[in-house]
Amino acid sequence: MTKALFVIAHPNIEQSTGNKTIIEAYKKFNIDTEYDEIYKLYPDYKIDVKAEQEKLLKADVVVLQFPMYWYNAPSLLRKWFEDVLEHGFAYGSQGKALKDKRLIVSLTTGAPLDAFKEGGFQNFTIDDLTKGFHQLANLCSLTWEDFIATGGVNPFVKNQPEQLKVVIEDLKKHAKLLADRINV
Ligand SMILES: Cc1cc2nc3c(=O)[nH]c(=O)nc-3n(C[C@H](O)[C@H](O)[C@H](O)COP(=O)(O)O)c2cc1C
Repeated sequence: MTKALFVIAHPNIEQSTGNKTIIEAYKKFNIDTEYDEIYKLYPDYKIDVKAEQEKLLKADVVVLQFPMYWYNAPSLLRKWFEDVLEHGFAYGSQGKALKDKRLIVSLTTGAPLDAFKEGGFQNFTIDDLTKGFHQLANLCSLTWEDFIATGGVNPFVKNQPEQLKVVIEDLKKHAKLLADRINV
């Protein structure tokens, strides 16, 4: 059976709509999953590298779950890459620990998804903006299984009950897509 590791990078998951809804909806699919809430474990940014590497070794699929911050992942996930994906572990001629594991990026954005296009408000596609993750997967011998994104998760929508219902439905569909992609 497939084992998933969710590396959850949200600085305040209790206040979250997007990431919290995705995770709660995903849990209903009962997939063997470890939830790695890095902001809760490492509020001081001092990451236990060996513990995180052990979690990676046990997983078949790694899901990076986060809200987009400044067109990238929140800072603790960036630090997690810097610390955990060591040369000789994740990459380099002796670094094959992640070989043939799969990587999925699962993210939410404040802007609606149709703003992510050339000439749009966000100017670049999410495919463009996640190229760094794709290449991280390549370098670490992980199979890149693309991103899943839900947009329009912003304070304006959170105060509009009708629009919020639509976004919550999108987030639940996001969770189902994620579960289907994990459980191939
Ligand atoms: C510091 C910061 C940077 C952000 N940068 C972006 C961004 O680059 N693009 C975007 O669409 N939304 C951006 N947002 C909005 C968040 O992506 C949005 O609030 C989040 O996805 C909602 O998910 P949540 O309900 O789980 O917090 C940013 C929010 C913060 C706080």
